[in-house]
Amino acid sequence: MDKILVVDDEAGICHSFRRVLGRYDYEVLTASTGEEAFEKVTTADPALIIMDVNMPGLDGIETLKKLKAVHPALTVIIMTAYSTSEKAITAMKYGAYDYITKPVDNAQLIALVERAVAAGKMNLPVTFEGVSDEEGDRIIGSSPAMLEIFKKIGQVAESDVPVLLRGETGTGKELIARAIYQHSKRINKPFLPVNCAAIPETLLESELFGHEKGAFTGADTRRIGKFEQCHTGTMFLDEIGDMPHSLQAKMLRVLQDGCIQRLGGSEIIKTDVRIIAATNKNLESLISKGKFRDDLFWRLNVVCITLPPLRERKEEIEDLINYFIRKFNREFGKEVNGISSEILKGFRKYDWPGNVRELQSVIQRGMVLCTGNYLLPKDCEWLSQTGQTHKSETDIEKILSDTANEILRRGGAEVYREAVSQFERLLVRKALELTNNNQALAAKFLGISRNTLREKISSDKKGSPHKE
Ligand SMILES: Nc1ncnc2c1ncn2[C@@H]1O[C@H](COP(=O)(O)OP(=O)(O)OP(=O)(O)O)[C@@H](O)[C@H]1O
Ligand SMILES: [Mg+2]
Repeated sequence: MDKILVVDDEAGICHSFRRVLGRYDYEVLTASTGEEAFEKVTTADPALIIMDVNMPGLDGIETLKKLKAVHPALTVIIMTAYSTSEKAITAMKYGAYDYITKPVDNAQLIALVERAVAAGKMNLPVTFEGVSDEEGDRIIGSSPAMLEIFKKIGQVAESDVPVLLRGETGTGKELIARAIYQHSKRINKPFLPVNCAAIPETLLESELFGHEKGAFTGADTRRIGKFEQCHTGTMFLDEIGDMPHSLQAKMLRVLQDGCIQRLGGSEIIKTDVRIIAATNKNLESLISKGKFRDDLFWRLNVVCITLPPLRERKEEIEDLINYFIRKFNREFGKEVNGISSEILKGFRKYDWPGNVRELQSVIQRGMVLCTGNYLLPKDCEWLSQTGQTHKSETDIEKILSDTANEILRRGGAEVYREAVSQFERLLVRKALELTNNNQALAAKFLGISRNTLREKISSDKKGSPHKE
């Protein structure tokens, strides 16, 4: 009879596991602390351990880490009532077989236990290596889909395999890339993000691979590319779908054998770089159009993590809002406690095409405008009317276009300069009004530096001859 050790400080939980599993030909042992679990593992040699995270003394994750150091082949399922991305990733990284949230459905539990016990007998590989406990950016996510993603991060972070991150814009691909890096063995080595869409095609090649002196007109010194700089580190190739076709063959070579050649050079340089790539494009369709090499796709796609759009995990909206409110309270020195139920309703109806990034910027804007302790519909005006959108791009374009016509009609020698500076002054004043003259906040809101803002204010004060 296989023995299962249940570790939980709540006697009730141990009891219910004993009752359920006992019906299925398992001998159930229990322990109420990590220390006791350690003893029982030595004396009873269980086939499987099911262990809670939150326990007084050694917690479940610490116990898992210690157990695995001594008994690397142990099969352990970690369970928790309050799941976080960190706990899920760390549990899997320390070699948990699975990570589940309480309450646990009996049928699912039995199925999982059977699989885990069988896997333990086959002695499937479990990894453990010394890892830093460094806390990364927080990733909010309690939906089943996000939990699966956290588990996958924990499973792949420590290996050097390439990871391909897919998902719509604003779903958190970059955040996940950083989490993988933070949980990898390369944490103390460089992390180098390269945005393939932001760098012109002609520059991207020398940016990535470097060039020799004289490789092309203007190349008057040798340049070391990002692959060489990033040796032993992790490169985040963002917007990989936009990588020019001409560079894809070189990329394939790096992934195959780590070899690169500087532009205009003949020397073959060996590098050791872990690649995490991301895209919101449909790579399959790019492949069918001949814009993306399918051999490169297969090399990158060894492990693929697809982030679901926010509209498919609306249960996360409330947690995300609270997280962003806490974040902007800290950043803006505000004391906002929450959001009105009316807004929350509107948020739940909305489809969030810009995903988490859009939600974050709505909260950020609302918090700048908010004067009380709660975000009210007037602060998030754009959603309160129809439950849908604020003034659309076309509305704004129409207003601007009418204004431009009016200005052009009036004419003048410096019509361009005047119109631009007039609009600029207006923007700056509005931002200052909205933020109660808080320059730091206004600059942040406008996306300019504080110095630039000060310059704009002082040139406005000095009085341009063309006041509104
Ligand atoms: N689960 C999450 N928890 C907390 N913050 C999140 C989460 N997902 C996304 N964000 C935040 O939303 C913003 C957008 O995320 P990110 O830049 O990772 O998106 P992306 O998928 O790379 O988008 P794009 O395809 O446009 O580059 C970031 O500020 C990120 O911190
Ligand atoms: Mg991104």
